[in-house]
Amino acid sequence: MAMVCLSDFEAYAKKYLPKIAWDFFAAGADDCSTRDENILAYQRIRFRPRILQDVSVMDIRTKLLGTEISFPVGIAPTGFHQLAWPDGEKSTARAAKAMNTCYIASTYSTCTLEEISAAAPGGLRWFQLYIHRNRAVSQQLVQQAVALGFQGLVLTADLPYTGKRRDDVRNGFCLPPHMKLKNLEGAFEVCKMSPPFHSLLDPSVTWNDIYWLRSLTQLPIIIKGILTKEDAELAVRHGVQGIIVSNHGGRQLDGGPATIDALVEVVEAVQGRVEVYLDGGIRKGSDVLKALALGAKCVFIGRPALWGLAYKGEEGLQEVLRILQDEFRLSMALAGCASVSEIGRHLVQFSKL
Ligand code: FNR
Repeated sequence: MAMVCLSDFEAYAKKYLPKIAWDFFAAGADDCSTRDENILAYQRIRFRPRILQDVSVMDIRTKLLGTEISFPVGIAPTGFHQLAWPDGEKSTARAAKAMNTCYIASTYSTCTLEEISAAAPGGLRWFQLYIHRNRAVSQQLVQQAVALGFQGLVLTADLPYTGKRRDDVRNGFCLPPHMKLKNLEGAFEVCKMSPPFHSLLDPSVTWNDIYWLRSLTQLPIIIKGILTKEDAELAVRHGVQGIIVSNHGGRQLDGGPATIDALVEVVEAVQGRVEVYLDGGIRKGSDVLKALALGAKCVFIGRPALWGLAYKGEEGLQEVLRILQDEFRLSMALAGCASVSEIGRHLVQFSKL
């Protein structure tokens, strides 16, 4: 099977993954309208391409909080990579390092943070935190991530409770007995993904907890799940270093905006004071270009990374990243940009502007 675009990996994953795993990866909340809107919204945005710009030499590199990556696409935090490939997050870490990009490792990984670090020493990694009611557990994870050389702390802020994902409810989704949430092993008696497990998350978290996190570490704090200018302003005022515009891939509040639509108001509110990233619905190189044109410094992929793993582990994920990289380079060239610094708002017509 020739893998030409990311949809080819999606089709492969759908065909070969066990239904319960496919359904878990694909799930959106309720009617999945926000999940689907994340993708559809890109079709409403049109380019304003420039011609005769000398695109013979292309530079697609960028920097994430000062660290260079090969192109502006990283890997969003997703849980349970062993559902896609036996080596799980170790393969993800290796692929990200091989492609010289950033991997955000989830609290809900099926490999430990040590295993992830050891699999790809020196790779650029951020740690994604969910704050648990048992603060000692969260504190310990942050300290472990710092000790292991993770370079950023991503606080996911849109999951006080888990959204209602109908297929997971129908399937009675939980991890197979041989897989464990390795970072939380021993911390809780219930170590499987089911509603009682999620009730261990702390729904009372507020902006003040950013100060608590800051007291634990000097790592840059990136807040994930912002969709409004009000929250963007609060994030800046609370001293975070980055914002990920995200609706959790449409898995939380159904009926919220596509992330590419929310990006514009967040970027306008932030006025360059912190870096703004986006995830949700990135499926083509031209999507990456549109997000950068509207002010994102970098984007992250969630499900497409899982499809790559399901296809061929580390190699499959590298292939997904390579295809996106090639498509992004080509889109840039066809739009008349030879380097990432030339990408700007002038490149798109955007009906909501
Ligand atoms: C997620 N996401 C997520 N986010 C997070 O902060 N911690 C997590 O553990 C997870 N787990 C997770 C599992 C699965 C199966 C999916 C699909 C998503 C959300 C993720 O980081 C990201 O916001 C979305 O996946 C981006 O949308 P796309 O790229 O999947 O369309």
